Amino acid sequence: MGNPVAHSKSPQIHAAFAGQTGQQIHYQAILADQDEFNQTLDEFQKQGGKGLNITVPFKEDAWKVSDVLTKRAERACAVNTLWFDKSRKRCGDTTDGIGLVRDLTINHKIKIAGQEVLVLGAGGAVRGILDPVFDQNPVRVVIANRTISRAEDLASAFSDRGELIAVDYDYLKGQHFDLIINGTSASLQGTIPPLPDDLLRTGACCYDLMYANTDTPFVTWAKNHHAAHALDGTGMLVEQAAESFYIWRGVRPETGPVIEMLRSAK
Ligand code: ATR
Repeated sequence: MGNPVAHSKSPQIHAAFAGQTGQQIHYQAILADQDEFNQTLDEFQKQGGKGLNITVPFKEDAWKVSDVLTKRAERACAVNTLWFDKSRKRCGDTTDGIGLVRDLTINHKIKIAGQEVLVLGAGGAVRGILDPVFDQNPVRVVIANRTISRAEDLASAFSDRGELIAVDYDYLKGQHFDLIINGTSASLQGTIPPLPDDLLRTGACCYDLMYANTDTPFVTWAKNHHAAHALDGTGMLVEQAAESFYIWRGVRPETGPVIEMLRSAK
């Protein structure tokens, strides 16, 4: 469920998972009016829907209406996966962050442990990835944002997780990182935040939470600055879907062939 939702690749991804695992599912995109999330969800549940993914702009609404939240969803203040338990309670989880970490560490064999990580942006997308990133034990995480107060809010919300500092983009001059995650929505405006040219360490990885049919502006920047890995969020999209599928069906699908399918359709 989302708005807009017609562009969503999730029906295609879940159809592929279902085919692969022999699960009988019917998964389709539902467009909800901006101010009718609750009604649309009620209707879905009444009609016998078993579970659903929630996308922009309803992840926070889904968090608010969840009766039971996983720990990671509670802190993310967002829910992208809902299901109903035996007493019809709404259970909410967020699988975006674990999707990112699995794509990085399993699919691309990129270590987060012991690395210095820079996260660009301090909105909902970033809030959703911080817990799973810290689970990997990075040396430190720096959050850079245009509006520093938003970065500071995140730094205090996750300060118990490890070394986490909030900075503005000017601070980045003279700094170097092993992993840079772009969680800004600047790509939607065809741009990236202002970054110094020597930001990347040798062997550094750049990861854009966004994905597109062509290189995102951040992926282009990463390639131009000789990143060892310049990745967009296609793998994360499939991994977060796989985690949702596992929650609903108790079966873990193989993500590799589905990531390949999406890449070759670009
Ligand atoms: P989302 O839920 O997708 O994270 P959001 O909460 O609106 O969306 O956050 C968007 C993020 O992208 C914010 O960190 C925003 O910076 P501000 O907090 O300063 O607004 C960042 N962002 C958007 N456009 C940007 C741009 N052109 N340059 C730098 N940062 C940008």
